[in-house]
Amino acid sequence: MEIIEKAPAKINLGLDALYKRKDGYHELEMIMASVDLADRLLFEELSENKIVIETDSSFLPVDRRNHVYQAAELLKKTFDLTQGVRITIEKRIPVAAGLAGGSSDCAATLRGLNRLWNLDLSLEKLAELGSQIGSDVPYCIHGGTAFVTGRGEKIEFLPSMPQCWVVLVKPRMSVSTSSIFGSLSFNSIQHPDIAGIRQAVETDDYQLMTEKIGNALEGVTIKRYPVIQQIKDRMINYGADAALMSGSGPTVFALCEKKTRAQRIYNGLKGFCDEVYLVRTLK
Ligand code: C5P
Repeated sequence: MEIIEKAPAKINLGLDALYKRKDGYHELEMIMASVDLADRLLFEELSENKIVIETDSSFLPVDRRNHVYQAAELLKKTFDLTQGVRITIEKRIPVAAGLAGGSSDCAATLRGLNRLWNLDLSLEKLAELGSQIGSDVPYCIHGGTAFVTGRGEKIEFLPSMPQCWVVLVKPRMSVSTSSIFGSLSFNSIQHPDIAGIRQAVETDDYQLMTEKIGNALEGVTIKRYPVIQQIKDRMINYGADAALMSGSGPTVFALCEKKTRAQRIYNGLKGFCDEVYLVRTLK
């Protein structure tokens, strides 16, 4: 038997850090949305009791360091399973980019193996298991547009974000999320208006969304990698309605109502960075 799962990328329309918790994580408030850029994972049963990962990406480890491996191992341990599996990852989402590519692959693995092995687990249960692997995994189990709080495990579903075009630009460097959170100072933090972003999504107000989107980690990552600010400025100069860094970076996204504008930004940035994508929001 073979199962295929899509693993979409996410962008943060809003990301706020409220305080550092006793467990070392930050208490967050985020508005997340899936976009139409996805990895594809294929799951095949193996007669031998082992987990084999194959991928077309040279950036991904295929051993226990890969969250996909950890997800399969966690299910096998938790439910005492002896089945083996080969997981093939077709990688399209940039790696270590702030687009939750690794978390989305991990979530797709939990969903895919739930089907392959007939475990009949609810998405809530899969999200609970996924939170042991990474903070963004519970959201990625569900996807869509959501208000996400706590460490990332509390999820409230929202209507789809206002439909538009999204240009994603990933500069060459990879960013470590923990090091960006580690450099966050609550003296200089700029808190975005999360309630305003939520209102924009709930009322399908594209204009308000472009005015409100914001990310408390952006200043920290820009200080380390000024090219992110340059990308934002170029996007605005080429006609973006708004531009923001996603997650802990370094990917920057531009929002555009008109496809011609988005295409202009795509063409303009293509010469500046290697990894540029023009995608739609996902309903
Ligand atoms: O949970 P995950 O391993 O994906 O998180 C990566 C890092 O991001 C954590 O080690 C932590 O430093 C930081 N983080 C945080 N607060 C969160 C989520 C992540 O400080 N809510």
